[in-house]
Amino acid sequence: MHSPSETLTRLLGPAHPSPLREVTDERFTRHGVRLLLKRDDLLHPELVGNKWRKLVPNLRDALAAGHDTVLTVGGAYSNHLRATAAAGRLLSLRTVGVVRGEELADRPLNDSLARCAADGMVLHFVSRAEYRERHGPGFTHRMRERFGRFHEVPEGGSNAAAVRGCAELGRELAEAAPRPDVVALPCGTGGTLAGVAAGLGPGQSALGVPVLKGGFMEGEVR
Ligand SMILES: Cc1ncc(COP(=O)(O)O)c(C=O)c1O
Repeated sequence: MHSPSETLTRLLGPAHPSPLREVTDERFTRHGVRLLLKRDDLLHPELVGNKWRKLVPNLRDALAAGHDTVLTVGGAYSNHLRATAAAGRLLSLRTVGVVRGEELADRPLNDSLARCAADGMVLHFVSRAEYRERHGPGFTHRMRERFGRFHEVPEGGSNAAAVRGCAELGRELAEAAPRPDVVALPCGTGGTLAGVAAGLGPGQSALGVPVLKGGFMEGEVR
């Protein structure tokens, strides 16, 4: 009989430093810049990149607390919902995806949500107004009434456990050879940036580029 933590390691793979690959391009060379790609997309075939970094600590917490359900939220094209659904299938956990936009319930599922459903995720569509309330206790209470007991993971998977997972990414870059002095990454919620910045070493800095409308919450990242 495996402990939940052993099961997780067996099914989702142990943490390995992902490879750092150099991109050669005359335009970088000309300016004396070296560009390295941290290939976190190679960490796991279905939990790619920051999803693996963020979800594994959350799944560990969920299993340790004896949960059999993980509930999370996202938009209709959320990579985070996709990764959560895949993890649920791999770990035999029930997953519930609360999706922004109740009108989507009456339309055929897009490819992303169809993949979630195929992985067994229960899709629950809510209005944009209700989605905006997702941080409030009323939201969690309503979801508990509907779906019972669950481990809740916020939008983009970004919570304290996820930031700890992403700090490991920063630590890998602190020990990498060659050792980058600036680490640039795209940001949605900013959770990955917060973790990376926390894990980097002396003389290194993180540069976050917000890619979503409205940017990210600078205060929360700090
Ligand atoms: C491929 C990719 N890169 C970066 C991000 C942004 O991550 P974060 O929400 O932690 O800022 C996302 C969104 O989750 C993503 O899917």
